[in-house]
Amino acid sequence: MNILAFESSCDETAVAVVRDGRTILSNAVASQIPIHALYGGVVPEIASRKHVEAIVPLADQALSEAGLAPAEIDAVAVTYAPGLIGAVLVGVNFAKAVALAWGKPLVPVHHVRGHIAALYLAHPDLEPPFLCLCVSGGTTAIVHVRDYTEMDILGATRDDAAGECFDKAARVLGLPYPGGKPLDDLSQGGRDDAFSLPLAHVEGHPLDLSFSGLKTAVVNLVHNAQQKGEELNRRDLAASFARAVSQSLIPRVMAAAELTGQKTVAVAGGVAANSRVRADLEAACAAHGCRLFLPPLALCGDNAAMIAAQGYYEYLAGHRAGPDLNAYATRDLSQG
Ligand code: KG4
Repeated sequence: MNILAFESSCDETAVAVVRDGRTILSNAVASQIPIHALYGGVVPEIASRKHVEAIVPLADQALSEAGLAPAEIDAVAVTYAPGLIGAVLVGVNFAKAVALAWGKPLVPVHHVRGHIAALYLAHPDLEPPFLCLCVSGGTTAIVHVRDYTEMDILGATRDDAAGECFDKAARVLGLPYPGGKPLDDLSQGGRDDAFSLPLAHVEGHPLDLSFSGLKTAVVNLVHNAQQKGEELNRRDLAASFARAVSQSLIPRVMAAAELTGQKTVAVAGGVAANSRVRADLEAACAAHGCRLFLPPLALCGDNAAMIAAQGYYEYLAGHRAGPDLNAYATRDLSQG
């Protein structure tokens, strides 16, 4: 079964074709990062306009790279939540038009479910149930993936997402947007114990997280040093910050694994590309006797192949949308 999928929830326009939820036939992505980098972050109105410009040529590209005619597409999948509402709407409306014009079923896909499904594209042997740490620019959650379309959030951030925290810390360190990767690069070889940074604890909710205190601590450290005319060791601060993020995430994932009895652990989303998070998860899983599935770096960020992969399983579960499908800025992933 061939699924054509659209993704436009933030600053990447993406169109892909995936066969049977597991095999990528094409995966076209047009990134807007160079435009938003000028402003130090995503400008929602510009994002929407750029999606409009990119989506038609990208759809042509994805179909021709897959070597398929419209008649060979079995269903159309699209990210309908969460994201920048004006941006999500572009993909949703385009997908609705394609589904209507070609007479194909339309399948709505939750963006974070898509990030989880990126793992199916890289790991043919991965099947639910498993535990997945979802860490991206907008989401930080520990998810119990009970089945392909049935999942529960066991713990989540109460404020900022991990990726957002990386981006803010990077900005104050003078790194370009999006700052996760530059900060990761800067941290290499730095002393991770040079700065003592706060690790938040949410009273009564041991699996929940909070990153706003960590973000503020880094911002204050840098601003105080600037005001006093002191030089901070940026490499050491980057390494200490990456360690703090990882130490907030990994023990909670392992606690969730113990709670659920899951011996299969995975990580998904843009921050899954972080070298410290990957290394610490590998060590923790080895210590706990868990099998770990990491997404390849190319599938950590936003793409439409992951939406097509999840779209396949949503289709099998009977999930369909009509021309009244709406876009949502926020939506609980356990609701589908
Ligand atoms: O999944 P994604 O592409 O978009 C969302 O769905 O949010 O994630 C983007 C986030 C950004 O905050 C970016 O800075 C972060 O992922 N990121 C990283 C790394 N690569 C991307 N954060 C830390 N280390 C990285 N290597």
